[in-house]
Amino acid sequence: MDVSKVSSMSSPATSGDREKVVSKLPGWLRQNLKVRAAQHGIEIQVAVELGITDWCNLAATPATIDTAGADSFSTFLPDGQWDTFRSVAADRNVSLIQGLAQAVQLWLDANPAPHVARPAITRRMVVCNQKGGVGKTAITAGTGEALAEDPNTLHAVRVAKALTKALRASETRADESMPSGDDPLDIENLPGPGLRVLLVDFDPQCHLTNQLGAVPLPMNGDSLTNHMAGDPKGDLRDLIVSIDDENFGGRLHLLPACNDAFLLDVRLSAVRAREAALERALAPLEADYDVILVDCPPSLGLSMDAAAYYGRRRDGEKPGQSGALIVVQAEDSSADAYGLLTNQIDDLRGDLQIDIDYLGIVVNLYDGRRGYIATSSLQGWVDIKDPRVVGLIGDLKEQKEAVRMKQPLLSYAPKSQQAIGMRALAREIS
Ligand SMILES: Nc1ncnc2c1ncn2[C@@H]1O[C@H](COP(=O)(O)OP(=O)(O)OP(=O)(O)O)[C@@H](O)[C@H]1O
Ligand SMILES: [Mg+2]
Repeated sequence: MDVSKVSSMSSPATSGDREKVVSKLPGWLRQNLKVRAAQHGIEIQVAVELGITDWCNLAATPATIDTAGADSFSTFLPDGQWDTFRSVAADRNVSLIQGLAQAVQLWLDANPAPHVARPAITRRMVVCNQKGGVGKTAITAGTGEALAEDPNTLHAVRVAKALTKALRASETRADESMPSGDDPLDIENLPGPGLRVLLVDFDPQCHLTNQLGAVPLPMNGDSLTNHMAGDPKGDLRDLIVSIDDENFGGRLHLLPACNDAFLLDVRLSAVRAREAALERALAPLEADYDVILVDCPPSLGLSMDAAAYYGRRRDGEKPGQSGALIVVQAEDSSADAYGLLTNQIDDLRGDLQIDIDYLGIVVNLYDGRRGYIATSSLQGWVDIKDPRVVGLIGDLKEQKEAVRMKQPLLSYAPKSQQAIGMRALAREIS
């Protein structure tokens, strides 16, 4: 049966042409239904309606389902459908609870979980700003975590229109830390993107490595710096660690940093086409990942050039898939740093004749309670428009706590406003 046809036939879904039906369904089946409907972007009541229609049309009763522990389940069905279902169930000598369970299972079987959409070219996201402490590392980690989350589980996401609303509200309301507040209407439960993500700690300070509970690489061993300098001591893959959490299902990896990256500029001085050094080092890893995020150091040196070059648009790659994600703070001193950074990226574009896209601006550590300075500079970032603001993350305690606990933010506080904002950001740029 054509899903789109049925859902349009039954819309508006909660209007008077549907009747409320109260029955029972086992918890596991209810959960599967909820997740699968979200994965297919259709309403639960429409999925049930389709399942019941198919069930009634079957020539014979399908396999019995264990309905032990079934408890209350209510939904809205088109007028009359429940009566038809009731009489078919009576003819088949099947209880309503068993029949409904079979109908829901029928819909689940006919609509398997969609495959994760993988990019043809591994996406490279370079998280940068030479200004220190604006949250590059926090945003790299949070975005990567959000992109790797389980596609078979639902996660709270602040929907895109809420971001726009929040940005608009910031003009008028200076009295709240997060303008969109906790309005439940702005939160949607969505399946995780389920992408294979590599976080690259490209900062000799090793913050990302430490923050995720990993150990910086020892000075005398192999490292990304060695690979970039054309002096590898082994396979770069052997240095990668998995950030383990059920929710990331082995999809979230980290290439830890090493203090030797402080010497990167010196080590690269004798290397030809130095801008391409990061790309040469990471290219062999790309087949294993859908997204590679690079956490840049707070500097405008050669490492920034190499990172920006790595994020350039490749032949056959759509604009906006890879590029620079700029993290700023809603305060005036951030604007000068932004100008310097974009100048450098523009120079690189011109000198090397390459396209480097901006993925957007993330305004981090936002606290509207700081008044005019915060709200007016947020407005300043919004007014840039190109690139546009793709994320607004509040200054809240969970991020600092997660760092202290050496845990991924989205594991430590999966329902926090920050986690919800990170998921919104990840979806905004994907
Ligand atoms: N949204 C936030 N709310 C609260 N604390 C935050 C937030 N974002 C970052 N922080 C904290 O601010 C500090 C600086 O953040 P972070 O290390 O991510 O910045 P950075 O730009 O990577 O710094 P550096 O330039 O040194 O690499 C950290 O202690 C971090 O935990
Ligand atoms: Mg950092």
